[in-house]
Amino acid sequence: MTALFDVSIASKQHGERQILRDIQLTLHAGEIVSLVGASGCGKSTLLTIASGLDTAYRGRVLLDGVPIQGPHDEIGLIFQEPRLFPWLTAAQNIAFGGGADQQQLLGDVGLNGFGDTLPHQLSGGQAQRVAIARGLSTRPRVLLLDEPFSSVDAFTRMQLQDVLLRVAAARRLTILLVTHDIDEALHLSDRVVLLGSNGTETFDVPAPRPRIRGDSISAPVKRTLLARLQASHAF
Ligand SMILES: Nc1ncnc2c1ncn2[C@@H]1O[C@H](COP(=O)(O)OP(=O)(O)OP(=O)(O)O)[C@@H](O)[C@H]1O
Ligand SMILES: [Mg+2]
Repeated sequence: MTALFDVSIASKQHGERQILRDIQLTLHAGEIVSLVGASGCGKSTLLTIASGLDTAYRGRVLLDGVPIQGPHDEIGLIFQEPRLFPWLTAAQNIAFGGGADQQQLLGDVGLNGFGDTLPHQLSGGQAQRVAIARGLSTRPRVLLLDEPFSSVDAFTRMQLQDVLLRVAAARRLTILLVTHDIDEALHLSDRVVLLGSNGTETFDVPAPRPRIRGDSISAPVKRTLLARLQASHAF
């Protein structure tokens, strides 16, 4: 099977400082992969390169075998905070992404009836749903998410994780998700990639879908991941 999304970074520097070196990430269509690692190890840098926003690196990003040269409609990017325009309604914020099916998108993220609502009238979780809908508005095949749920409470977070899984299945999305939450990584992803100072290490998540929260199947992977993160001084 050929890869849908292929990120190779030989080297990324900020000034003299080497941030990323010899990174190779391959995602097949429909896969969900989480990226974890200590604060400052380069996860956001990697995601920005993968999105096409940062082209100042040595390497290449391929979508369906074709190099991407800059931001691309088929690659969506969602950040930690919603970054909505405060003067635009939920529907207008989604439309700003360029797509036409705002009502459908609002429904997909569980916000039917909220189209005319302004951002300050939304809860944090609702605002992040709008951000997810906006990220989907260009009909991306690949969705990149940088700690998308870290600013909401634990219950909203689990709800949003399930929204993401539902939308991903319905739209056959391929997802690369940065998170610090190991349970989130293990609930959502097929593989967890640990980014460390010596490159990447990949862990397959053995649990079948749909997954049950609190299940013990992934416990051994969780133990290993936590031990690796602690060894790399992530916490
Ligand atoms: N514009 C920049 N100029 C110089 N250095 C930068 C710049 N952006 C990031 N860095 C450095 O690159 C390194 C990686 O940053 P990055 O934001 O990718 O880390 P991260 O893994 O996403 O961290 P966190 O988990 O805290 O979000 C950090 O050491 C940071 O100081
Ligand atoms: Mg980051």
